[in-house]
Amino acid sequence: MTIEEIKKIAKEEIAKAENLIELDQLKIKYLGRNGYLTDVLKSLKDLAIEEKRKIGSEANALRQKLEEIFNERKNALVRNIEYKPIDISIPGKKKEIGHIHPISKIQEQIEDIFSSMGFTIAEGPEIETEFYNFDALNIPANHPARDMWDTFWLKPNPKAPTQQIENQKLLLRTHTSPVQIHYMENHQLPIRMICPGKCFRYEASDASHDFQFYQFEGLMIDKDTSLANFKFVISAFFKRFFNKKDLKVRIIPSYFPFVEPGLEVDISCPRCNQKGCPLCKNTGWIEVAGAGMVHPEVFKAVGYNPKYVQGFAFGFGIERMAMIKHNIPDIRLFNSGDLRFIKQF
Ligand code: DAH
Repeated sequence: MTIEEIKKIAKEEIAKAENLIELDQLKIKYLGRNGYLTDVLKSLKDLAIEEKRKIGSEANALRQKLEEIFNERKNALVRNIEYKPIDISIPGKKKEIGHIHPISKIQEQIEDIFSSMGFTIAEGPEIETEFYNFDALNIPANHPARDMWDTFWLKPNPKAPTQQIENQKLLLRTHTSPVQIHYMENHQLPIRMICPGKCFRYEASDASHDFQFYQFEGLMIDKDTSLANFKFVISAFFKRFFNKKDLKVRIIPSYFPFVEPGLEVDISCPRCNQKGCPLCKNTGWIEVAGAGMVHPEVFKAVGYNPKYVQGFAFGFGIERMAMIKHNIPDIRLFNSGDLRFIKQF
């Protein structure tokens, strides 16, 4: 580019620069070490002395000129920034305050009811060892009962301290039952605790299953805690949770490896009062929990003597409680992030 060309284009471009960053970039482009004007100066060495003088002085004059123009533009831009008026009459942006997720709300209600009956709220890890999730709960490797829990096994990581200490396979816990084991290992009788928490299963989602969900586990143990105590505690809980004094609880035999006898807990349908509806599939009853008397093998795993100790355990799905209480048709809504759903609670 000739000096004249540089002058013309640079002026135009500087006038168009809209902020200081753009202006700085232009300065580099024209006056920088590899800029257009510097190129002209570098090329002087090949010229005859006369021309060197002429073009050299023209180039220096242009440099001065451009610097002036840059400064003027800069001042104009800075002034603009400083004096840009703020319209204080524009309404402010409203900060939206969120609210508690329906699952957390239900969890709080459950905790309140059990706390009022003297139960402690416990917690346990979401990443478990094979021992806590299965073996200590009387579910040995290769036992068909393991098929009841589709499991996310974690890849071994030799740097993880827990694995080095316990030399155990790790998994995402498939239920909250392992917290029974942690709790009994660290507490003396009498025990009355519930433990809400997240669980994971390697299974496809549908309207009533998700690969992650909440459960709460309950455990009450003393020297003579009985199934009659269980029936009373669980009935009192459901009556208060559904706010229905005439709610009925039905207990029928079932199987879980960590209890003997094992039970299924049904409640009378709180929606239709046993007249028959889609929720209870016209049976009048809804299955809500697994439970039973803690198995002697489980007591042995934590060092209790089953001759002198007895009690019950139970496990519920928290989403299921919420779905029954609020007539929610699909478990996947809880994690959908759909505000139309969340804002109803
Ligand atoms: N852990 C069981 C499950 O996730 C639920 C359960 C059944 C828990 C019986 C218990 C129990 O404590 O006694 O399927």
